[in-house]
Amino acid sequence: MISNLETDIQMSLEDFKAIRDFIHEKSGMFFAENKMYLVKNRLQRRMAELDMKTVRDYFYHVKYDVSLKEFNRLMVLITTNETSFFRNEPQLLSFSDEVLPQMIDEKMKARGPKTFRIWSAGCSTGEEPYTLAMILLERLGNLAGWSVEIIANDISEQVLQNARKGEYSGITLRNIKPSVLEKYFAKVDDKFRVKPEVKNLVKFSHLNLNDPRKISMMSNMDVVFCRNVMIYFSDEVKKQLVRGFFNALRPSGYFYIGHSETLHGISKAFKLVYFKNALVYRKEVVGPAGRTAARTTTAASPALEKVRGGAASGGAARALDLLSKIKQQKASK
Ligand SMILES: C[S@@+](CC[C@H](N)C(=O)[O-])C[C@H]1O[C@@H](n2cnc3c(N)ncnc32)[C@H](O)[C@@H]1O
Repeated sequence: MISNLETDIQMSLEDFKAIRDFIHEKSGMFFAENKMYLVKNRLQRRMAELDMKTVRDYFYHVKYDVSLKEFNRLMVLITTNETSFFRNEPQLLSFSDEVLPQMIDEKMKARGPKTFRIWSAGCSTGEEPYTLAMILLERLGNLAGWSVEIIANDISEQVLQNARKGEYSGITLRNIKPSVLEKYFAKVDDKFRVKPEVKNLVKFSHLNLNDPRKISMMSNMDVVFCRNVMIYFSDEVKKQLVRGFFNALRPSGYFYIGHSETLHGISKAFKLVYFKNALVYRKEVVGPAGRTAARTTTAASPALEKVRGGAASGGAARALDLLSKIKQQKASK
């Protein structure tokens, strides 16, 4: 039994498992037993507000609240929302300098509708989708003739509220180049507000990624970003969600997960593509239309050569990461 003298909240292992399994069933997030303190710490203020002493009481309260208000509050408490603008530069460089030019070229040649549909799944306070919007604006100039839609969602209403506001300060801005900051943000008091031309490209909405019915309604995405979200999910939920992302992508669409994440043991449906800056998953097309400029890891030796080159040129940690992803991909074949 864990109890906290200050608030006198009590949580037995059984109570922990009850609320943990409930959170897993509803949201996909899974907390192992070594996260018992973390769960308790995150619940205690809310339980004090409700004058509840045991986690079991809170479990029944949230479970039987048909309005889902308490569940939504629980999601605000339990989620980890760490994010920042231009998070993981190598991945964004691969998007900006490799994936996008290739896609723009293909779309221009196809003479079809010049549209981009990008999905930021688990967008937290908005830094990721706004970063993607700025990258698209840089690539497509003033967007003349293009229609861009960035769909951004999260399970926490609180982060979505902040995302829609689009005002930021402090450490989240640390990776933004001064020229980009000046171009796409307006200084308002001590904050930086995202300018309307960026904001208008992003549509925020509430979505639980552990809702297969809702996921099945997403379609025709050019690129899906689900970075640093599935690390909190059980493998069973990851497998189902990754199937959903695969179906939501158009053929040859790209799928970004966090740079320390892998699809090893989760899905074999995607092809791991080696770009200069990062490894990215791609939805393969069967047949002649499947040819793309980028090499896949099936061409193992040149990719490995490049990785070795990366290590020699100083990117040792990243090169090792790439190497392990390639090995995992090969092992899963
Ligand atoms: C660590 S943040 C990652 C933000 C951003 N993708 C990035 O990489 O910077 C993880 C986000 O996933 C959201 N999340 C967790 N479970 C979710 C679920 N079942 N459905 C939708 N969003 C979820 C959390 O609320 C949180 O904002």
